[in-house]
Order: sequence, then structure tokens, then C-alpha cells
Amino acid sequence: AAATTTDIFRPALHYSTGGTWLNDPNGLIFHDGAYHLYYQNNPFGSEHANLSWGHATSTDLVSWTDHPVAIVCDENEDIFSGSIVFDRQNTSGFGKDGTAPLVAIYTSAYKPGSMLEGIQAQSLAYSLDGGYTWSKYAENPVLDRRSADFRDPKVFRYEGDTGSYWVMVAVEAQDFQVLLYKSRDLRNWEYLSTFGPANATGGIWECPDLFPLPIDGDPENVKWVLTVNLNPGGPNGGSAGQYFVGDFDGATFTSATTVTEGLQDPDRLGEYQWLDWGRDYYAAVSFSDAPEGRRLMIAWMNNWQYVNELPTASWRSPMSLVRELTLQTIGGETHLVQQPVGDWAAVSASVSNFNLPETTIPAGTTILDGAAGTVQRIDISWTPGAAEEFGVVVRGGGSQGTRIGIRPAEGTMVVDRRESGHTDFHEAFASIDTAPIRLVEGQYQLTLFVDRCSVEVFAQGGQVTMTELVFPSLTSNDVSLYSVGGSTTLNSLHITQYA
Ligand code: FRU
Repeated sequence: AAATTTDIFRPALHYSTGGTWLNDPNGLIFHDGAYHLYYQNNPFGSEHANLSWGHATSTDLVSWTDHPVAIVCDENEDIFSGSIVFDRQNTSGFGKDGTAPLVAIYTSAYKPGSMLEGIQAQSLAYSLDGGYTWSKYAENPVLDRRSADFRDPKVFRYEGDTGSYWVMVAVEAQDFQVLLYKSRDLRNWEYLSTFGPANATGGIWECPDLFPLPIDGDPENVKWVLTVNLNPGGPNGGSAGQYFVGDFDGATFTSATTVTEGLQDPDRLGEYQWLDWGRDYYAAVSFSDAPEGRRLMIAWMNNWQYVNELPTASWRSPMSLVRELTLQTIGGETHLVQQPVGDWAAVSASVSNFNLPETTIPAGTTILDGAAGTVQRIDISWTPGAAEEFGVVVRGGGSQGTRIGIRPAEGTMVVDRRESGHTDFHEAFASIDTAPIRLVEGQYQLTLFVDRCSVEVFAQGGQVTMTELVFPSLTSNDVSLYSVGGSTTLNSLHITQYA
């Protein structure tokens, strides 16, 4: 393809389409040795229209192979978000000649002029070739409550005291509710229960997920996690994802981390549990059937606030890195902890390293000679001294730079993208965003992934994450360390250069 000026923003470590619109990840599943990533896609342009499921696969979670559009919109329906299950026992009856089907459960968003105009209902499609070609079920939709905002079904196999069956979580977006249903055959669905409204309700609820995880790796102590994306109403503005930790008895989810029942208390936003505190981590959902019972999640790296104005075309917006989720006890509470996963070296023929041993960072800013790069992983840890703030500036140079800082006295982490390059395409983009952070064993530790149009921060071993788009010049590639109002001790710094 011919290079366009905006190709300088095309990510190296993240999935983006060849030249079309992308939003939510859909139908995530590990099947037959490959991770399948489907996604909301306009096969014909760079705008949110003609919603269909694009398709890519990967074995290393970093390099992706594109495939033809999997499920295509037609004159009746847009294919909105949903999930895929491997129906091993052919409960759906879509299997043939001993081949068990993959079944996609998606939202039919019925178009003007169609029989169900204005309705959103859940529909099925199935694949008998491992996810590459799909047939829509002739009797769609299979679950219709005559609602205009009933969408984003995530289906999983439940095996518990109450039996073995399929469970669906889906939202009533405008009511800030997650609805649960069960089915024996994926075609007939029985209502179970409703969760919400609760905690963050500053925007409509979308793209839910529900899965079990052991606390601190103890298989005898399993909790269920309900994730719900909302737009707007995130901790730093616009789209974001929250989660609840609790119990699921096969019918009802009850949460131990519900702070506000009903509509949110605007003063309590900081008390809710967030999947990510940055501006660009939305519509996050997890993979079905990931190996070794791992819970792997990916999000759309974007925010509905400004997506239509992003300075990239014709491709529009990337996915986040893939993360592994675990539940850990932190300060007596149960929290999700998230670690990036992937074979990043797979994207680059030449990978090099830059290291700094323990050293004192004096007040001011120090550019690190030999550390410049546009695609890198930075692992860094500090012991705070007298400084009010210290941190690292990436994609720096000229008048540009994205600052990631720690303010120990405030207990906050800051991502400042006000000087991060192109920022003036939307008034909400140039921002200084914050997240709470706590000291762990006397140290602050960050893992940063820097790419052509993003910075992802995993702090304190993944206790806090912040994901942000940035659009710097290619020549803005310096890395510097800074300390304000005193010095700081750098314990170690390690940079892996991918490009
Ligand atoms: C979330 C969302 C979903 C919907 C899809 C449509 O970003 O609004 O609720 O299914 O995008 O593209």
C-alpha cells in the first residue's frame, strides 16, 4: 500500500486494520492453535458505519494475520458486538458430519426499513471451518426483548452445582444493567437475573464480561469478576471500563465491591474499580478457551469522545496489547492485576537493549543518550526521596514529550499528553490524567510500552494501568528521566528497543 503521512502512526506492536474503521474486539477465542480476533469493522471506509466483523489471527499475540471479513452486514442489520464459543458437544445442532461448530452470538442492530427497525436483539452465526467462513442462522434473532439498546452478548459455558449450560451476559445500555440468561442449545434463552445499576453510571453500559478467577492463585478460593464498559463516565473522561468482584451461583451475580447501589454518586468515581485509568482502553473483553485457563483480555485503544477526529486515515484506531488478568489481595481488598502478554520480539528483526544501574536522579531533566526509540518496552523502578514528583518522558524531542510521573505525597500517577504531538484535533484530547498508586515495598515500579501512537503503563506489577493514545513526530523519540523539588533514587532501568 502507498505510504500516507499518517502511516507514521501505524503501530508496530498493536493490531490495526489495513485501511478501514475498527472499534470493539469481538468473538475472541483461542481455537485450534490460534488466537482469533474479530472486531467491529466498516469494510468499506474509515467511519463507524456498515458494522461487520473483521477477522485476524495470531499465535504470538503480537503479529496478526488478516483474513476476509467474517460476518458481513446487509440491508437488514448491522453486526454489532458479541462473542464466540466452541460448541464441543454440538448442543446447537449446527455441527455436521462429526465437526463441532464455532457459534457466534452477536447483536443484530436492525436498520431503518427492516422488519425489526430500531430493535437490537441477539442472533447466531456458525462456522464449520474453524472460524474462517460463517453462516447466519435462518431463524435469527434468537433473543429479542423489543429493546433498542439490548446488546453485546458474551457467552460462556457454566459448569456448577446447578448444572452445565450456556450463560449469556448482555447489557440494557441505557438502564445501566447487565442481564443474565441461560440456554441448553444457544437457540432458546431463559432469563436469569439482572445486575445494576451500580457504581459508575456516568454513561451507558456496554460490552460486559463475566468470568471466574482464583484469588492469589488459590484454586480453593475462586471469585467471579463482572466487567462493564461505560461511555462516557470514565475516571479521566469519556469511555472506560469498570469491574466488580463477587460471586455467581449459576443464576445471579452478587458483588462484594458495590460501592453505590443505583445511580452513581459523582464524588465517588475514584472509589470504583477500573480496568484502566487512561483515556483509551474501551470495550475490553476476554478470550474464550485461552490455554491453561488463563484469562486474557484486549480492548479497543480509543475513546468515543474523539475517535472521529483522530489524525489517522484511512485506517482508524488500534487495539490495545493483550493482558493477562489475575485476582490479588492488595491492602486487604481483592483487585484485578494485569500484565501485558505477547512475544514482542516477533515483530522486529533487530532487538537491542539499554540499561542503567542504580543511580541518583538530580532535580531537573536528564536525557538518556542512546535510549531513543519509537517502539520500546521500558522497565523502571525508583525509591522516592525528597522529590514531589519524578518520572520519565517518552517520545520526547523538539517541543514534544509524554510525561509519566509519580507524586508520592499525593499517592498519584500522572500521564501528561498535553505536549505529546498532534493534540489539537479535539478539545478533549490534550489531557493530564491521574490514577491512584500505592507504594509497594518502598518502591514505585513501571512497565511502559511505547509505540507509534500509544503509551501503555503497567504500574506496580500491574496493580494500576493507564492506556493513552499519543501522536508525536517520528523524530520525537528521546527518553529522559526527571525529578522535581529534590532528587530521586533510580533502582534500575531496562529498555528493550523494538524499532
Ligand atoms: C461499544 C459499542 C457496542 C456496540 C458496538 C457498535 O463501543 O457501542 O455497544 O455493539 O460498539 O459498533
